[in-house]
Amino acid sequence: MRILIADKFPDDAIEELRAAGHEVEFAPDLDAEGLVAALAGFQCVVVRGTRLTAAAIRANDDLELIVRAGAGTNTIDVAAAAMNSVVVCNTPGKNAVAVAELAMGLMLAIDRNIPDNVADLRGGIWNKKRWSRARGLKGRTLGIVGFGDIGAEVARRAAAFGLAVVTVDRSGRSEAALQRLAQLDVTTVPDLESLFAVADIISFHVPSAPGTAGMIGRELLAHVRPGTMIINTSRGEIIDEEALLEVVDDKDLRVGVDVYSDEPGAGENTFNSPLARHPRVYGTHHIGASTEQAQRAVAEEVVAVIQSFASGQVRNQVLG
Ligand code: 3PG
Repeated sequence: MRILIADKFPDDAIEELRAAGHEVEFAPDLDAEGLVAALAGFQCVVVRGTRLTAAAIRANDDLELIVRAGAGTNTIDVAAAAMNSVVVCNTPGKNAVAVAELAMGLMLAIDRNIPDNVADLRGGIWNKKRWSRARGLKGRTLGIVGFGDIGAEVARRAAAFGLAVVTVDRSGRSEAALQRLAQLDVTTVPDLESLFAVADIISFHVPSAPGTAGMIGRELLAHVRPGTMIINTSRGEIIDEEALLEVVDDKDLRVGVDVYSDEPGAGENTFNSPLARHPRVYGTHHIGASTEQAQRAVAEEVVAVIQSFASGQVRNQVLG
């Protein structure tokens, strides 16, 4: 196949694809507009956060396969792909540990005010008195919203920190998913309101989808207990950022976010997010999946997806 890789991707995985007989072009700096023309003549495109619009899909008749080197497919017009008989696949679970590690890192950073400690020291200020205040994590209750591969990895790490984990009970869980909850000693509560009412820390791990967009709005935030820590390493769209900012001071919330509703893509940009700039918020640059280990695992899975497709089999298909 002729494969266009339109995002960062490891060299050795590119070589592996070439060795398997594919013609690979590497263009990591392409953006959504650039992709419309750049895709001409390619049967397969590999992307991370680069947007794949309906226009790009419709304009390229040769396109057969879109591979998302990661989990979230909100940047790909999956409906347009289906309409044009283009298969969309992803690499679920392959970066779950990396995202969970960041979620734990944000919890610790918030509890100990690590970024502010560092900022003071870099500014030549020693202020042990100011920063010698932390609540501690042991014995707190962690509410995990979205208990897939990432939620489970967070629960595993939370257990080592002595956190009690709760999640929302929902119908339709497979036997394996129920077993995983039991193994990880996770308690279930009937709904999000109940979770918000008991959790000291709430960590979100749901995909961006019509049902999750804006799911955390004014109504639910009314149930958040004062002093709660909120961690979002999933997608910015799931939280009504304006509503969160309205309560963050009054409720003494501490927030750790890796994702934003209007975040720029890869690379450098200006970004004036009121959420990211708020002093009670520690933000990172959507780096949850960006460990070498995770990117290696993701790249291996991308190669497996492409090789399966080339031999007539579809692996990890994402349906709209
Ligand atoms: C994902 O959806 O896999 C993660 O959010 C990582 O996204 P990225 O590959 O754009 O960093």
